[in-house]
Amino acid sequence: MELTDRTVLVTGCAGFIASHLAEELLKRGNRVVGIDNFSAGKRQFMSGMLDNPDFRFIEGDLLTMDLSAPLKGVDVMCHLAANPDVRLGATNTRVHFDQNIAVTYRLLEAGRESGLRDIMFPSTSTVYGETDVIPTPEDYGPLLPISVYGASKLACEALIASYCHTFEQNAVLYRFANVVGPRSTHNVLHDFIRKLREDPSSLEILGAEPGTSKSYVHVSDCVQGMIAGAEAASHQVEVFNIGSRDWMTVRDIADIVTDEMRLTPEYRWTGGVMGGRGWVGDVKKMLLSVDKLGSMGWSPRLGSKEAIRRAVQEILA
Ligand SMILES: NC(=O)c1ccc[n+]([C@@H]2O[C@H](COP(=O)([O-])OP(=O)(O)OC[C@H]3O[C@@H](n4cnc5c(N)ncnc54)[C@H](O)[C@@H]3O)[C@@H](O)[C@H]2O)c1
Repeated sequence: MELTDRTVLVTGCAGFIASHLAEELLKRGNRVVGIDNFSAGKRQFMSGMLDNPDFRFIEGDLLTMDLSAPLKGVDVMCHLAANPDVRLGATNTRVHFDQNIAVTYRLLEAGRESGLRDIMFPSTSTVYGETDVIPTPEDYGPLLPISVYGASKLACEALIASYCHTFEQNAVLYRFANVVGPRSTHNVLHDFIRKLREDPSSLEILGAEPGTSKSYVHVSDCVQGMIAGAEAASHQVEVFNIGSRDWMTVRDIADIVTDEMRLTPEYRWTGGVMGGRGWVGDVKKMLLSVDKLGSMGWSPRLGSKEAIRRAVQEILA
């Protein structure tokens, strides 16, 4: 997929990953159209872009707004807007259907009417469900998510693939491990830091000790991986895992957070749900094979523990 000198629509552009991606695209000389409704994103995350003449921001809700005007003249759509809260699916089964599946469908419809050719879409490790092959490669199957969020992203992948083959479009689908770094607003690091600021003597940890084992990738590596994947894609619909090459437990994360905060709290494990998970829909083990993108020249600069330590320092700063 050609990215050079193209006009790119970035949905969810005031959010964590999309704001970093949009900045990188502008740095590379692209024209960027951003859309966000500020349901989770913040205007300040776009402060480095708002004055850039190559950046145009539209405030709007992708579920209801007219999409024909924003898509006019767009060459590549990077659709990052979503509700990424895995936990929510256990109490509100509608939100991921609307915010992830219906919004993606609306964008695909507007895209085919406007003649859009290229799509970049961030999916997630949760589409794999609980796998028996670790590290999990892109061709693992069957894909049986255990969360409504994972199911919604898998539905989006399927919709995008079908549109590509029906309307002669191309797509790169990225399955991310857990992404951490500056401008993140909701993850285990924020949870631990908030709790430790309230009570430095003890830390409540969701799950059974030592917690789930998962892979974490820094947002800087994630964005470079997205661009490398788009440029390397040779199939009409290409799937790339993006993560680091190792994993760590929740206990490892707690140790790094407390070390960076210079605290020695007592850990209080809740015991978790459904056999020690942090929450319903929480996958116990997640490590993605990144050999496919690795063979195309991309490699994460930071491992999971380094990414977590860097992200904690960035949040505390
Ligand atoms: N953060 C991760 O670890 C991770 C892992 C796997 C996949 N992803 C995917 O990456 C993408 C970005 O995730 P993130 O962590 O940056 O999330 P985020 O919540 O920081 O960003 C999402 C952005 O989309 C906007 N948005 C949501 N619904 C909208 C709507 N209806 N109209 C307009 N704007 C809307 C929000 O305001 C927010 O700015 C998502 O698609 C998510 O599913 C993230």
